[in-house]
Amino acid sequence: MDNHSERIARARTRITKLVFPQDTNPIGTLYGGTALKWMDEVAFLTATRFARCQVVTVSMDRVDFKVPIPQGAIVELVGDVTRVGNTSLTTRVQIMLEDSGSGEQKLAIEGHLAMVAVDDAMEPIPVVREAAGE
Ligand SMILES: CC(C)(COP(=O)(O)OP(=O)(O)OC[C@H]1O[C@@H](n2cnc3c(N)ncnc32)[C@H](O)[C@@H]1OP(=O)(O)O)[C@@H](O)C(=O)NCCC(=O)NCCS
Repeated sequence: MDNHSERIARARTRITKLVFPQDTNPIGTLYGGTALKWMDEVAFLTATRFARCQVVTVSMDRVDFKVPIPQGAIVELVGDVTRVGNTSLTTRVQIMLEDSGSGEQKLAIEGHLAMVAVDDAMEPIPVVREAAGE
């Protein structure tokens, strides 16, 4: 694996969550706003692990809600770097709905978030830097 592929592999982020009542909408399934918050958190962690500096979300691209997620469900969020630009990168975040009996997972929600590496003055900086020791 080359250095770039290794960085992408190391940036992969997984978070498992239980869907509590406060995470749901009036029909008892995962509230879209909650899902977006979780996805933003995973995108932030994924981008930070890749760039190893402060990052901010610059855009949330198309998010597809494919399968409703019921209260009490186990979900796993998986973040991956799918594009590396100069000062920005794109993360894909998937929310997998897990069958607690079999462990089988199916894709429930997917979105793409663009993140920008910034310095202390909130100015964009390269996502890959010599100083990061790469
Ligand atoms: C992120 C921010 C610093 C970028 O500033 P900017 O003046 O747009 O910077 P630039 O035009 O130089 O663009 C920087 C990078 O972001 C990308 N970018 C800018 N707007 C984008 C958008 N809407 N969607 C995707 N990428 C975008 C550019 O293509 C560029 O990428 P590259 O260097 O890899 O080619 C600025 O927009 C900002 O502060 N936004 C608010 C961030 C925020 O508060 N997020 C929520 C909390 S985390």
